[in-house]
Amino acid sequence: MTDSVSTTANQAKYRADYTPPAFLIPTTNLEVKLDPEQTQVKASLVVEKNGVHNNSLELDAEVEKVVQIEIDGEGLSPDEFVYENGKLTINRAFEKAQVVIVSEINPKANTALEGLYLSAGAYCTQCEAEGFRRISPFLDRPDVLSIYTVTIIADEEQYPHILANGNLIAKQKDHKTGLTSVTWNDPFPKPSYLFAMVAGNFDLLKDTYTTISGREVSLEIYVDKGNLHLSDHAMESLKKSMQWDEAKYGLEYDLDTYMIVAVDFFNMGAMENKGLNIFNSKYVLADEKTATDTDYHGVESVIAHEYFHNWTGNRVTCRDWFQLSLKEGLTVFRDQQFSADMGNPVLERISHARVMRTMQFAEDAGPMSHPIRPDKVIEMNNFYTVTVYDKGAEVIRMMHSLLGESGFRKGMDLYFKRHDGQAVTCDDFVSAMADANNKDLSKFSRWYSQSGTPELTIQETKTGSVYTVEFSQRIYGRDDAYKALTIPVKYEVLNKHTGQQVERGVFVLEEHKGKLEIKTDQDVVTVLFEDFSSPVKVKRSLPLSDIKLIINNASDAFCRWDMLQTLWQMVAKEGKADGEAGRTLVNCLIDIVLKQELDPAIRAELLTIPSFQSLAEAFDEINVDAILKTRTLIPSLVTEQTQQAIRNELAEMGPVNNDYNKENVAQRSLKASLLNLLSFSDGEEVKSILRSVYDNAPNMTERVSALNASLNLGDALVQDLLNQMHKSFSQQPLVFDKICQIAASYNGDEVYQMMEYWASQEEFDPSNPNRIRSLYGAFVMRNPAQFHALSGKGYLFLERLLTDVDAKNPQLAARLIDPLLSYQRYDEQRVALMKGVLLRLSSTELSKDLYEKVHSALAN
Ligand code: TRP
Ligand code: ZN
Repeated sequence: MTDSVSTTANQAKYRADYTPPAFLIPTTNLEVKLDPEQTQVKASLVVEKNGVHNNSLELDAEVEKVVQIEIDGEGLSPDEFVYENGKLTINRAFEKAQVVIVSEINPKANTALEGLYLSAGAYCTQCEAEGFRRISPFLDRPDVLSIYTVTIIADEEQYPHILANGNLIAKQKDHKTGLTSVTWNDPFPKPSYLFAMVAGNFDLLKDTYTTISGREVSLEIYVDKGNLHLSDHAMESLKKSMQWDEAKYGLEYDLDTYMIVAVDFFNMGAMENKGLNIFNSKYVLADEKTATDTDYHGVESVIAHEYFHNWTGNRVTCRDWFQLSLKEGLTVFRDQQFSADMGNPVLERISHARVMRTMQFAEDAGPMSHPIRPDKVIEMNNFYTVTVYDKGAEVIRMMHSLLGESGFRKGMDLYFKRHDGQAVTCDDFVSAMADANNKDLSKFSRWYSQSGTPELTIQETKTGSVYTVEFSQRIYGRDDAYKALTIPVKYEVLNKHTGQQVERGVFVLEEHKGKLEIKTDQDVVTVLFEDFSSPVKVKRSLPLSDIKLIINNASDAFCRWDMLQTLWQMVAKEGKADGEAGRTLVNCLIDIVLKQELDPAIRAELLTIPSFQSLAEAFDEINVDAILKTRTLIPSLVTEQTQQAIRNELAEMGPVNNDYNKENVAQRSLKASLLNLLSFSDGEEVKSILRSVYDNAPNMTERVSALNASLNLGDALVQDLLNQMHKSFSQQPLVFDKICQIAASYNGDEVYQMMEYWASQEEFDPSNPNRIRSLYGAFVMRNPAQFHALSGKGYLFLERLLTDVDAKNPQLAARLIDPLLSYQRYDEQRVALMKGVLLRLSSTELSKDLYEKVHSALAN
């Protein structure tokens, strides 16, 4: 190992070092006596040797105290076991034994929100990836599958709902202690990361679903008291997901009950624990008064994602954590397909492409770059990344493109036939796809082992009646080591003058270089990577006239949007709005503003100003000022000439019906884009338009649109509207989060006072990750002008924040640091400032999570 790892805690693990477990645990019985500070967990495990060896039983353990150990009924003396450095080693030989371990844990002190913790008075658990060891010593790895029976003992008055995975099998009250014990059994063998239990006082929304084979499943959503009216959309989404998975993949739910518990304190979106999902309340609770269309979409897609895990993740799970994309890439792909079917497929693709280009490409070019199947990990929590999830989904999507809808389905069927009940690898998945289709995917599978974003250079020539598009793939600076990847290119050939389609097809590039040849007498141009058919960067210099032609004529709306983004990037790189690219962009945008007959959903996207990150993607060395300038100059020039038209259209639009459906969502998002453009024209009149939109908004979506637009008009209006919102929605944490997000996005030095003000409000609990992400996460991600200010103030702000947060919640801190990791892509002054922060952090005591990121950033 080349790293200078200082403590054993920060030791890396390698994929190549996988060995099967030395012991298996076919059954697990837990008895948990809940107490805020001294919860006692008694684990009775059937443990058997796996293979022939003389190793001691070594369990992963991060409990407060190991109180007692028994083997086959006999207590161990203190010299027969060692508990140190996260391992409990038992030095007594056996082939198969009943191992009983009693340990103690402290849920109240658990601020990391991993293991058993208290969320606003309710007990809940989070075990993925390696949190179970904080509840009880165990072989805490995904290839040890066990059947769990769990008894929870608690005061039923205080905790009327006592839940665990599977089926309720017993419940009784002990009249001496007054405590109730509730027993659950999960008949499906599962890895420890899917274990969950909950105890709390909730409101319960109940419904049923009859599966395709006629079984009735009870659906239960548990929310905080008083939130019942906010859970209908989640329930509808769950039923749609169940129905969709039956229709699309023939996959049926397998237990009698499906439970979802919404909690306020949660590190991520949600968790797919078998039969007992635990959700960040942000992805459950919604009504039109308090949630935006984006929130509705988030609820629907996260509910679907966790539900789909029941097959892709739970019934077939991962052999080891390096294989995480086996379940996550596949499940993201499935939830993307679902969202496309429920809503607008083009909008879905645009949003996936945005995530890939702004976040995943940056990660892949930075110090934490890793293949979708990583080779080396220090802290597993750091690998729940856009690479494993979203690039992983793109890799599955390319397989889908190569095999076709029915070929892909055949592969899925074979995958489940072969591996139901097993813990398997990404290679097993690819083999199922290959075997079911009689196709060699060995070259394709390089996508699993090679990191970085392929750069595709495109060159077009015409000789006689043959039009040739030449492709060549590489990654800058990696020429020798780079292996050619299989890259499906969906394309359309257009007549350069009329914009008429000449041909449409799929070209598959399999070598470093390849050629697509088209016989035609016409003067043509190709539209490439329709539907974002591969997660690659495209290097192609097209004349502005071709760009314009594609924006106006491509059949694929994704590509029309995409070309417009290319144009924005060209303008940012030119660094001025009145160059040739700038003038073309302004004209295109004016056309789109005036073309009311365009599809409103697409028009709204075309009129959205690209984020800082998406323009930054075009630069080798990010020019902060040029990007910021482009993002205000262009819209100002567009509105200069169109403000009357925009005002008229807004006035004509009138109120949109509140229901959440594609038509209404499109209207509202168009309205948001138009309002935002309008905010670039100055004048008191615009302010009064925004105020009246806010005041008359029938739903949260429109209120937020007005607020976002008001950010461009100085701080007085924003602050005023935010205060108004706070008054109307006091004590509603999810609305408070929106206030924080908007405040933290304000571009002006006042933003620091604004953040201080909102952080001092009663609703702001700094131990709640949603609050931290909404206020400070928005500042670092959505306020590039202030975060990257040359004074260094933004970076120092993040430094202090990281130090605070890391001490309590390492997972959260490790996510907040991401924008600093790309420091090498900035100019000299900013590099020095950002690197200074990293260096100072590296000399303090850090969690494993931050340690891994800070040190890899500085190693480059
Ligand atoms: N497996 C979960 C999902 O993708 C996410 C997850 C992983 C998670 N680790 C977590 C959620 C830690 C909360 C906390 O759906
Ligand atoms: Zn997932």
